[in-house]
Amino acid sequence: MATFKVLLTPGDGIGPEVMSEATKVLGRIEKRFKHEFQFEEETIGGAALDRYGVALRPQTVAAAKASQAVLFGAVGGPKWDDPKAVQRPEDAILGMRKQLGLFANLRPVRIHPAMIGQSSLKPEVLDGTDMVVIRELTGGLYFGQPKKRWESASGRQAVDTLRYSEKEVARVLHVGFQLARQRRRKLCSVDKANVLRTGQMWREIAVEVGKLYPDVELRHLLVDAAAMDLLRKPTSFDVIVTENMFGDILTDEAAMLAGSMGMMPSASLGKRRKDGTGFGLYEPIHGSAPDIAGQKKANPLAMILSAAMMLRLSLGLDAEAAAVEAAVDQVIRDGFRTPDIADGRGQVVDTARMGDLVAERVA
Ligand code: NAD
Ligand code: IPM
Ligand code: MN
Repeated sequence: MATFKVLLTPGDGIGPEVMSEATKVLGRIEKRFKHEFQFEEETIGGAALDRYGVALRPQTVAAAKASQAVLFGAVGGPKWDDPKAVQRPEDAILGMRKQLGLFANLRPVRIHPAMIGQSSLKPEVLDGTDMVVIRELTGGLYFGQPKKRWESASGRQAVDTLRYSEKEVARVLHVGFQLARQRRRKLCSVDKANVLRTGQMWREIAVEVGKLYPDVELRHLLVDAAAMDLLRKPTSFDVIVTENMFGDILTDEAAMLAGSMGMMPSASLGKRRKDGTGFGLYEPIHGSAPDIAGQKKANPLAMILSAAMMLRLSLGLDAEAAAVEAAVDQVIRDGFRTPDIADGRGQVVDTARMGDLVAERVA
């Protein structure tokens, strides 16, 4: 029997609600495939601010490092939204990404055929959409220094810094090209090279790295045009690689292709072993959804699909990952829907029931 160590950080709002469903499904994987998951749990985000006075404790990072993977729920909420606060719940996820060296964030966008009618886009535009957005995750505007606010004679001022090194840009592009090789061999590098120095360097490096992958078709799009093409011709994308903040914004937009934030999983990866596996943090791209927290309405599928990505990309359990994904597909085909993806035809179920339905189909 193989054992795997996984750190759980449920967080705030719907984070704990969707996390319970992911561990429920993993419990079925344990039984069916005869594995053992050793789960450890750490309080993070707003819950940790309340309990310990910090959003992310050093021992949480240490526990992550002692694990093979982290399953992360979501952090944040109105309770901790004071703009003057020194610390925010969001510092927990930013700190985890940075301190664990998770520079590549894979955000797949797939549209289930049975859900195609539900998007605000026309079915004929959406049909065939299947892409992965790779968001650079430890650089750019999120982390560049200086980053501060101050008072001046002319009033309040603030600065954030968009800074990238050659190494940071090249390594995330390599991840993109390697992934493109396992897919349709098309990579779209997204930048703002018409205005930003970092964008010009990004494009230059994309061309250089691209020469090492002559079998992958490389094209460049400006981020504003990319935002438009995501809605105009989403099928034109296979792998997208882009800067941290552009990736953040474009993937919430892309969630509307998939129908809901509740359908969008992600994997945050650092250095990989030769076989492609390695430590990773897995989280839905959505937040703590304060508007529906505590109402049993949260869609757990993004969290469950994030766990599937963990099985494949950190634990090397391909068949197990496929079993979870197939179970999710089957539940959707069977017509079960949480309120965010309800289509007026199937049966609307709550968070825990959705988790049960997936777990049943895994077993
Ligand atoms: P959000 O993603 O929490 O919610 C946006 C909208 O999508 C809401 O209407 C919400 O109800 C809906 N939604 C999100 N996930 C859903 C799910 N699983 N099922 C059904 N509906 C879902 O974004 P927000 O409201 O802008 O942010 C709320 C808080 O979450 C903020 O504090 C923000 O900083 C934080 N946040 C955290 C993370 C993270 O922890 N990784 C990610 C994004 C936002
Ligand atoms: C995401 C979130 C985070 C981000 C926030 C919560 C810091 O929006 O994971 O997409 O901006 O990266
Ligand atoms: Mn986001």
